Amino acid sequence: MKFIIYNVRDDEIPFVEKWGRDHHVEVVTTTTTLNTETVNEAQGFDGVSCLQTIPYTKELFEAFHRMGIRYLALRNVGVDNIDRAAAKANDVTITNVPAYSPESIAEFAVMMALYLTRKVGYMRQQLQDQHEFHFSPEFMGRLISEQTVGIIGTGRIGRAAIHLFHGLGAKVIAYDKYPQKSTNGEFTYVDRLETLLNQSDIISLHMPATSDNHHLFNHEVFEEMKANAILINTARGSIVNTNDLIFALESGEIAAAGIDTLENESADLQDSRSTKKVADAELIKLSVMPNVLVTPHSAFHTTESVKNMVNISLNNLKAMVMGEKPANLIDEN
Ligand code: NAD
Ligand code: COI
Repeated sequence: MKFIIYNVRDDEIPFVEKWGRDHHVEVVTTTTTLNTETVNEAQGFDGVSCLQTIPYTKELFEAFHRMGIRYLALRNVGVDNIDRAAAKANDVTITNVPAYSPESIAEFAVMMALYLTRKVGYMRQQLQDQHEFHFSPEFMGRLISEQTVGIIGTGRIGRAAIHLFHGLGAKVIAYDKYPQKSTNGEFTYVDRLETLLNQSDIISLHMPATSDNHHLFNHEVFEEMKANAILINTARGSIVNTNDLIFALESGEIAAAGIDTLENESADLQDSRSTKKVADAELIKLSVMPNVLVTPHSAFHTTESVKNMVNISLNNLKAMVMGEKPANLIDEN
């Protein structure tokens, strides 16, 4: 049995090597992104492991079919970038890792909220740009326990974020297309998204990207939000219209933003050895704003997550190659 792992980072390699030794499976790694030009590297392998936010296209699955590759194990949660119909048509079975560490992303969202409520960006700007180091009225922050936090998406990560915000004393309200019965006494569901937009001081997104929430956060929605509102997006970039977000921040429609997931992420983002300089004008604009914290889709990135992403995805791949049912099929093929 022989597997190839695309898009590998150096921090994953020790976990990959250990898994290979423990399971007596040959696992080859490459930093290459998986696309129609690089898929040939998978020739002769029994299964492919991958982690990327750029699309898995029809053409890619057609190439898999021609090469006789039937199994793709994602090392991540999100499946929004997959042409699932094309995978099925080309007899490719796919697994993901739905819960490698929801707490890692939830903690990152809370970290962003604290960074922004306590105005750390203004402190950094004073020192880095003005080379000054003193008190400023601009640094006066607000307590999380005095805020209403609105969580959109109450699945694994949303619930973990609710638990943390509740623990800090916030009043937590939530909106979900498919609300659950239990709230553990930690939050209250609102029936309409508009209610959450009108009432929240901090809004944190934890739903998947779908065709019906593309640019859900746009000019009209920013106008609905409170002027002191902070938007945290650790979900997917496509949910927020970046151009409208920049306008909202510049015009004072909202107060601040924590952006871990940005629209139009490229293959470079996940190439940990890349030395390419940032050219995206919107990213450059956001990066210099003191009321913005922008990070390279790294909310997931903890030791706990990486270990689980590697081990669970390779267990799924091995099960598929051995003709067993893997734990985390994204579709029943
Ligand atoms: P989950 O499936 O456990 O929960 C998603 C929740 O969102 C569900 O309760 C669902 O009913 C709800 N939902 C779906 N569409 C909605 C909509 N339009 N409006 C409101 N609610 C909606 O998923 P999860 O594990 O909590 O992950 C959520 C998302 O977080 C993933 O899909 C992924 O895009 C993102 N994510 C980001 C990172 C990162 O590093 N930044 C890491 C992992 C996952
Ligand atoms: C996910 O697991 O869905 C993420 O967003 C993490 C990323 C490394 C793709």
